[in-house]
Amino acid sequence: MKKRGIILMLTGMLALGTLVGCGNKNDEGTATSGEPQKIKIGATIYKYDDSFMSYVRRAIEKQTEGKAELIMNDSQNDQAKQLEQIDTMIAKGVNVLAINLVNPKAAPSVIEKAKKEDIPVIFFNKEPEKSAMDSYDKCWYVGTESKESGVLQGKLMADDWQKNKEKWDKNKDGKLQYVLIKGEPGHPDAEARTKHSIEEVKNAGIEVEELAIDTGMWDAGKATEKMDAWISKYGDNIEMVVCNNDGMALGALASLEKAGYLKDDSKYVPIYGVDAIPEVLDKIKEGKIAGTVLNDAKNQGKALVELSVNVASGKDLLENTEWKLDDKKAVRVPYVGINKENITVGEDAYK
Ligand code: BGC
Ligand code: CA
Repeated sequence: MKKRGIILMLTGMLALGTLVGCGNKNDEGTATSGEPQKIKIGATIYKYDDSFMSYVRRAIEKQTEGKAELIMNDSQNDQAKQLEQIDTMIAKGVNVLAINLVNPKAAPSVIEKAKKEDIPVIFFNKEPEKSAMDSYDKCWYVGTESKESGVLQGKLMADDWQKNKEKWDKNKDGKLQYVLIKGEPGHPDAEARTKHSIEEVKNAGIEVEELAIDTGMWDAGKATEKMDAWISKYGDNIEMVVCNNDGMALGALASLEKAGYLKDDSKYVPIYGVDAIPEVLDKIKEGKIAGTVLNDAKNQGKALVELSVNVASGKDLLENTEWKLDDKKAVRVPYVGINKENITVGEDAYK
């Protein structure tokens, strides 16, 4: 780095009121001054009690080791609590905020706080609206392309239906009668998965009939309750169970097994999820869940930490990383459709 560059960098850092980056090496490979000050990342998880997010949290913790100090908060599904946690982290002098919103619509309140203190924010898992993203030049998103998970789930469902139509079309009416357990309404992943999974099946030329749809709020216990009610109402008319995530697929499976389903071929009901969490991969191997879509927790955690460390130390967001930004200021980790045939892809991602 040229001398002028170093001076500019130092001035910039002093203006930010932080000495982060003091331990950076110059071109000769010697430290520029003093002890390196650790970068402080202030993070929130919308609630620890969410199976997929527990894997993302672990990935973040692992990735941060040796690179930064991490302040991690459980927002307990309470947006007001999360905003207080953000105030506290700002008071503690965090250099970057990594925020898994409780309510995707609350992004403007978070941005307002961060902007006042000139702290960059990287949202993850719950994507804010474009207007919010555009309101602050130092905010970005790490996650997925929600639509892709729906399309991939729908593809698995359509392929399997075509192959097994003889057996799976129980009432022989040529139509696929399904029930759908949705994630949190208004969550971009829940909305897109619900729409595109079924659309993909229709695009494959399969006629469908929706017996029931309701939210299970991403939660296994709530999904079991829904499924219990639907089994008593529709019983054997249910030809497929579509779930917006794996937690709810496990909940639906528990309900179906309790009612005597899935114990042999004649009582088989195909269930689909999204995430590819290890518990579901085991059920796929046992033949109890038909398919899922890998939601790559490990790489989402990795991208989030790499970007956070970069911006916190005044570097370019994407410096020395494999990630790209799209036109919505987002880094998107790809989804992969998973069934018995490529189960190792899911297993490798969650190792
Ligand atoms: C995951 C869900 C999770 C939700 C939390 C989604 O991307 O698929 O399992 O509950 O994010 O926001
Ligand atoms: Ca049918």
